[in-house]
Amino acid sequence: MSAHGNPIPMTSRKCGPLSGTAAVPGDKSISHRALIFGAMAVGETKITGLLEGEDVLDTGKAMQALGAQVIRHGEGSWSVHGVGVGGFSEPEQVIDCGNSGTGVRLIMGLVSTYDFATTFTGDGSLRKRPMARITDPLALFGAKSYGRSGGRLPLTIVGTANPVPVTYETPMPSAQVKTAVLFAGLNTPGETVVIEKEATRDHTERMLKGFGADITTETTPEGYNKITLKGQPELQPQEVAVPRDPSSAAFPVCAALIVEGSNILVPGVSQNTTRNGIYTTLVEMGADITFENPRTEGGEPVADLRVKYSKLKGVEVPPERAASMIDEYPVLSVVAAYAEGTTTMRGVKELRVKESDRIDAMARGLEACGVEIEEDEDTFIVHGRGPNGVTGGATCATHIDHRIAMAFLVCGMASQKPVSIDDGSPIATSFPVFEKLMSGLGAQVTRANR
Ligand code: S3P
Repeated sequence: MSAHGNPIPMTSRKCGPLSGTAAVPGDKSISHRALIFGAMAVGETKITGLLEGEDVLDTGKAMQALGAQVIRHGEGSWSVHGVGVGGFSEPEQVIDCGNSGTGVRLIMGLVSTYDFATTFTGDGSLRKRPMARITDPLALFGAKSYGRSGGRLPLTIVGTANPVPVTYETPMPSAQVKTAVLFAGLNTPGETVVIEKEATRDHTERMLKGFGADITTETTPEGYNKITLKGQPELQPQEVAVPRDPSSAAFPVCAALIVEGSNILVPGVSQNTTRNGIYTTLVEMGADITFENPRTEGGEPVADLRVKYSKLKGVEVPPERAASMIDEYPVLSVVAAYAEGTTTMRGVKELRVKESDRIDAMARGLEACGVEIEEDEDTFIVHGRGPNGVTGGATCATHIDHRIAMAFLVCGMASQKPVSIDDGSPIATSFPVFEKLMSGLGAQVTRANR
């Protein structure tokens, strides 16, 4: 199965040293939110550096379906004429969020406190993913939902005309759940409160503040985050400069670490502590990364990363770090395969409900490439084979998951035999220029099976 019907088989083979500059596209999380906040503000929001990946473009279409005007001016340059909080109108059609869990979950929150019905669907991956984590808290506001068994898509949210504010403790560390609740709270009178035991990415809170909402984050005596939002604000349009995506940056960074002789520069990588767990982990593994020119870009702390090929060792990745690197475990498991010793990733069960079961997808593919794996529901262990020890020579299934596809292509850049993937088409959801960018650094990635 592929994202769009036509799978794109791809192969990556051992290459010479990677060199040059890897300027990765805009941050996916912030790009979704920039379009959504623009749609909720009164007037014109201007966006630069928007990620033009399929996930984000689907969110743009959804904002149009709800009544906002979304206009592209040039590469990464967009504007949104918003309708104001409370100003959305009932969409005439089913909203198709493609592959995007973030898109669908955030927009479900948004429409749940409007007096109309919205039906959502998505691709074969998204239709398998659990939505009860969103519809449960939305029910507390008064919204109703009707989905397939297990609360799966296609699913209709019947919003409530008289929402009541909610205090909600998220049962799992999830910025999507936190954001859906806050978005429901926007069109609700009174104060909506979200409590999270473990900090997750905080782009929603930062951007709500930037657009003029009354929102505060406190630390409770137990050390939890307590976020309080005053409902029904008038959001002011902004100019949003989307910073580069640290999750996309992880692919060239990890490739440079395992391809002998590499030396690359990856500019503008977020140092936001809710996003940079992968870089902390790589440094602990012995990665030669220097963080140059620290500054603020698009409201995020960033640095330019100078990354050199490194001799790596296995590490224990603690569970409390999981939320800050949740999307980077697939490529970390590849790096772990090229390290000496064992890498143990604990507290990672959320990986099982991403675009695919990412522990299973990586475990099966790495095993086929000659790497020994252990796993249980919440733990993923990779027994490293050292710098030249990964055999490769397998075709790995990507399960309509962009990060699985890119992780195995990185794996093939240093393995003894090439690594193929059954379908690279999902890469376009988050990193449409991946092939071009990696080839520019010297990687050998081709569109064919071996
Ligand atoms: C995201 C949150 C994370 C992450 C996803 C983007 C967001 O999901 O995996 O790629 O933009 O809020 P969860 O909130 O489900 O952990």
